[in-house]
Amino acid sequence: MKVVEVKHPLVRHKIGLMREADISTKRFRELAREVSALLTYEATANLEIEEVTIAGWNGPVKVEQIKGKKATVVPILRAGLGMMDGVLEHMPSAKTSVVGIYRDEETLEPVPYFHKLVGQIDERLALVVDPMLATGGSMIATIDLLREQGCKDIVVLVLVAAPEGLKALEAAHPDLVLYTASIDEKLNEQGYILPGLGDAGDKIFGTK
Ligand code: PRP
Ligand code: URA
Repeated sequence: MKVVEVKHPLVRHKIGLMREADISTKRFRELAREVSALLTYEATANLEIEEVTIAGWNGPVKVEQIKGKKATVVPILRAGLGMMDGVLEHMPSAKTSVVGIYRDEETLEPVPYFHKLVGQIDERLALVVDPMLATGGSMIATIDLLREQGCKDIVVLVLVAAPEGLKALEAAHPDLVLYTASIDEKLNEQGYILPGLGDAGDKIFGTK
């Protein structure tokens, strides 16, 4: 698995701001969107392009465009929704597929409850977004689902990743590409990432 911890100073600065204990919902949302946009910019740097001829103001003109079908952004509900707008900032024509999974608080096992994927997903780049990769269970279940649908080209964007989650994801899906703003230290006994962000879903939705 290719893992990229993005070192851009804006990413380093913004992910640090997100760790503030009493951050407001508004600020957490803004920063989640901003960091997601920066991760998207980095993660799409090597997309394949092709040359096409279009009607320009002075006749035919050769321009470059991104090759293939429109990408799909795949937020893992709920918290992944907090990253979606950041991805769409740079890829406004991307289709959206949603996957509903929550983590059982006792067992930490992923519990799938909904999914709605776009058509021809097997021909699209899928950008899977979730702020937190903790045990990796939710992400592995999501990638399993996408692979079952024939999806081959998958890039994962997470704000914070735990080493334990990266190891589990690598074991399950060694051919993935993952971009993160931070690889943190470890999980605590409750499966929360340290130093982490706390409960990202609660912070994005203002619950609790
Ligand atoms: C969080 C987070 C991930 C998952 C990570 O979601 O957004 O989806 O936990 O944990 P894992 O790597 O151990 O599976 P949560 O279950 O809290 O649901 P929510 O998005 O609805 O808040
Ligand atoms: N889910 C979160 O929102 N935060 C964590 O640290 C782990 C799982």
